[in-house]
Amino acid sequence: MSRTNAMGSTVVPGTACKPEVPDPDRPIMFAAAQIFICDGERCHGCHKEDPAERLRALIKEEGCHQGPERIKVTRTHCQGACRFRGFASVYQNGRARHYNQEASFSAWKGVHKWSDEEWRALLAALRAGRLPESLMSCRVAEQVYGA
Ligand code: FES
Repeated sequence: MSRTNAMGSTVVPGTACKPEVPDPDRPIMFAAAQIFICDGERCHGCHKEDPAERLRALIKEEGCHQGPERIKVTRTHCQGACRFRGFASVYQNGRARHYNQEASFSAWKGVHKWSDEEWRALLAALRAGRLPESLMSCRVAEQVYGA
């Protein structure tokens, strides 16, 4: 029995989502922004819910799962920022319509406890090329050595 992935493509047997026939109109790297959510033990810990799956569902609801405003979600293991518990980092594509260098990278803490409204605030901000004012208390400040 063949399986299909979230995009409806038949997958290679033995894989979870690798399509048998790659679709050039849905290239894997096509995204205006990408959110990397840590699911390492120290971040995910006792949380029962899968934040990546929840976020993907919200992205679909918001209509930013496809097209030029697509926001992609990728699970990671430890990103080396465990002390922030529930860590996520976000990159914007430099070619995206609303790209803004000031918001090109951001890091967030406690995301495993974020409400749907908090996630929606981040998604709306990403689509507008800015950072969400309402979430700035959850932002992890980044710094470049020697800058
Ligand atoms: S376990 Fe999430 S950053 Fe280390």
